[in-house]
Amino acid sequence: MSQRTLVLLKPDAVRRGLIGEIVGRIEAKAGWRITALELRELDRDTLETHYAEHEGKPFHPPLLEFMASGPSVVMVVEGERVIEGVRTLAGPTDPITAAPGSIRGDYGTIVRENLIHASDSPESAERELKIFFPGRD
Ligand code: PPS
Repeated sequence: MSQRTLVLLKPDAVRRGLIGEIVGRIEAKAGWRITALELRELDRDTLETHYAEHEGKPFHPPLLEFMASGPSVVMVVEGERVIEGVRTLAGPTDPITAAPGSIRGDYGTIVRENLIHASDSPESAERELKIFFPGRD
């Protein structure tokens, strides 16, 4: 089943020069295609909308601060079961519990600076793609 997902390489990944490494892992998966890719400073409105479901949680303000601290890479990836697949490549939220071999497991230590966001369901992907690429089919 071919799908589309929104992927963000967060400001820590950009600052640390890991764009090529992470994009390479995504591109290496058979049949997946990157159909949009842009280095972008994420504004407050976009971040508030994207993370609206976490408003009120203690990590919400520092998460937004961090996500506004520098440019991110904003991507659309398409392909077979890509929503679940990029989440698997990323590993769980906390990099210390992420298995070696996953992006967070290989490069992360701090929960907030966990390198990558990927939509967690078809519904989230549809919502998030509209936020980051409005008007795109
Ligand atoms: S929850 O509450 O289980 O739904 O949260 P979770 O799905 O694990 O995470 C939601 C997003 O918040 C980020 N997050 C954090 N940021 C900063 N500090 C802390 N402690 C923290 N915990 C979770 C997490 O990375 C998720 O963002 P994305 O962009 O989806 O990775």
